[in-house]
Amino acid sequence: MISNNISQYIYKNFKKKHYVFTGRATTALYLILKSYNVKKKYIICPVNLCYSIINAIVVTGNNPLFVDVDPNDGNMRYDFVREKINKDVFAILVPHMFGNPCKDVERIKELCVKNGIYLIEDCAVSIGGKFNGKYLGEFGDYTFFSFGDSKIINIGMGGMLISNFILDKMKKLNSQLPLFNKKIKDKIDLYSKLFRDIYYSNYYDQLISKFSIFNEFFYDIYLFRVENTRLRFVLKKLEGLKENISAREKIAEYYNSKINFSNNIKKYPYVNGKIYWRYNLLIDSIKLKHKLINKLLKNNILVSAWYPPINKLFNDYNIYKNAENFYKKILNIPVNINKEIAYKIVDTINSIIY
Ligand SMILES: Cc1ncc(COP(=O)(O)O)c(C=O)c1O
Repeated sequence: MISNNISQYIYKNFKKKHYVFTGRATTALYLILKSYNVKKKYIICPVNLCYSIINAIVVTGNNPLFVDVDPNDGNMRYDFVREKINKDVFAILVPHMFGNPCKDVERIKELCVKNGIYLIEDCAVSIGGKFNGKYLGEFGDYTFFSFGDSKIINIGMGGMLISNFILDKMKKLNSQLPLFNKKIKDKIDLYSKLFRDIYYSNYYDQLISKFSIFNEFFYDIYLFRVENTRLRFVLKKLEGLKENISAREKIAEYYNSKINFSNNIKKYPYVNGKIYWRYNLLIDSIKLKHKLINKLLKNNILVSAWYPPINKLFNDYNIYKNAENFYKKILNIPVNINKEIAYKIVDTINSIIY
């Protein structure tokens, strides 16, 4: 019954016939690569992606091929992708990040078709967003979502792979993974604490390359399944997605109208189809950005600075100028909060700027 309702929802909104409920979004990518048994292939991805997802590529014996991003909205761009196409590219991973749909998704899809490459759409932080009137998730040969902590649909831990290709192999591989347990949870928490300590610090650039020594030790924090019975929570949250999104929009509108935007602190260029995972600010100086982070954290506000470039974490020392500059500015403030907390956040920000 629940699985039928999920299937109907996915078909209606994303035009996909099949799904697998996974431990994480990262597990979904792992299942795709593992089921094709590809090795030493390249997956093109933006350089400022969530570090977790790259581990699915590495652990299956493949390589990320990083590309720079749009200097203004931080998302993937067709021109950077096209330059990197070669015969060993297996797939292009297109995430919709920072709340904006990736505006080149259709052109990148054409590039995939032309070159016999799979398009994998990453909707981990963009479920409910749209591009050209279609829901994000419809574009990929394979698409995945995350239902983890702090995501738009949050059931604590979970992910989903959807496709019009038969997913039997992925289902079988998924069933062979260990069930999520306390040991895995503790290891995930440890890794994110270590990573966050670096990325909140002033020394991200210097420290991140050293951090790569931990990659191997932590590989199993991406490879697990969750109980199928938890699908009922997903269904309930999917049914409430519209209200969830409109509550987020109200807080975002409040920020829009109350924050004293200036040369030091600018609005992120949100476009039609946007989805507020968090609300982004673009801060003009790194010093001011850290001042804001420290003050908000001190007031127990879960501020973040997603997403930093992660190439050095995977031993790629090329320079990705746009992603680096964008990271210096980006700051995300929460939207799944009540008006009182939003008021406190606005007050803190405005008091620092003036
Ligand atoms: C854009 C993006 N893709 C993928 C992931 C990985 O999701 P999960 O933690 O469910 O593996 C994240 C996590 O934050 C993300 O932000």
